[in-house]
Amino acid sequence: MAEPKKLLRSLAGEVQAVPPIWMMRQAGRYLPEYRATREQAGDFLSLCYTPDLAAEVTLQPIRRFGFDAAILFADILLIPDALGADLWFVTGEGPRLSTTTTPEDFGKLKHADAIHDHLAPVYETLRILRRELPDDTALIGFAGAPWTVATYMIAGRGTPDQGPAHALKAENRQLFNALIGRLTNATIEYLSAQIDAGAEVVKLFDSWAGSLKGADFDNYALEPARQIIAALKARHPGVPVIAFPREAGDKYIGFAKASGADCVALDNSVSAEWAAENVQVDGCVQGNLAPGHMVTGGQDLVDEVRRIRSAFSGGAHIFNLGHGITPDADPDNVSLMIETLRETAR
Ligand code: CP3
Repeated sequence: MAEPKKLLRSLAGEVQAVPPIWMMRQAGRYLPEYRATREQAGDFLSLCYTPDLAAEVTLQPIRRFGFDAAILFADILLIPDALGADLWFVTGEGPRLSTTTTPEDFGKLKHADAIHDHLAPVYETLRILRRELPDDTALIGFAGAPWTVATYMIAGRGTPDQGPAHALKAENRQLFNALIGRLTNATIEYLSAQIDAGAEVVKLFDSWAGSLKGADFDNYALEPARQIIAALKARHPGVPVIAFPREAGDKYIGFAKASGADCVALDNSVSAEWAAENVQVDGCVQGNLAPGHMVTGGQDLVDEVRRIRSAFSGGAHIFNLGHGITPDADPDNVSLMIETLRETAR
């Protein structure tokens, strides 16, 4: 039997001399081949919902760089779209959605198990990818965590401080809780269907977890993650889950144990040395090179890759950026990161 894939070995807790590597937003605008396919699709959502093209852009960074994992090309906002909120993307600005702030808005949302017809193209993309990926490349599915998705649904767009979502939480806790509950259930259904379609690992992106403080973090970042992971583990034992409570700071400590996640992804606001001591003691971690190095490159990039790798060398580790690569990044710096990692770690 073939050896388990490199990514899955780290997720099972194995300490590897050369850790697996992939990159958040590895399919994206910094790649000319992505920009060409996106143009062919017309707009971003058509790209997400056209399986052949979504599979193509997922494969592009695998062909170019030979990453150890491919992440499904889709977006965390496909869930509100599938629940019946209107979603569109304004080029150069980002997402726009119809807002969900009143009981009437909430009443119009579909039930959690009614999302699959709308999301069928995403599942088809995963089936294509399982056929087309190299044998040693793991396939990662993903969803946004309930809090992060709710911040976009409540504000109707991205916000610097998630103000509208915090306001609804303060003003109508019952409605806010109902929205988090609906998203929790929809996310379980969505990720479970992704696994049925071929995802070997799933990742939960809680990009705005850092704006939840104290009990709010426990109730709205940790608890939904715990519920989602428990349901997935019951339905799909053995499928690993990566949790990314971005900018959780001290709340990264114990998050894997409390949520049931197999791996915690770290953003670059925490140091690798601190995280090795406080987070990696509980199991595999992913991260956490600052994405800016993909723009600036040079010796700083090389030094940082070596420092992070060395800090995490005592335990299971998946090398990644601390957040998504940006459109102004230079693909040559991505190659330099991969070469440095694969050389140094020997
Ligand atoms: O990582 C990957 O390569 C997989 C695909 C993926 C995308 N978005 C594609 C995308 C993933 C995992 C996401 C997650 C996502 N989407 C998050 C969580 C992770 C994070 O970055 O914090 C969030 C908050 C979103 C919502 C979203 N989608 C925003 C705010 C934007 C606009 C900002 C931007 O970068 O333009 C998007 C658009 C988006 N999603 C793009 C890509 C490649 C760019 C769209 C384009 O091609 O014009």
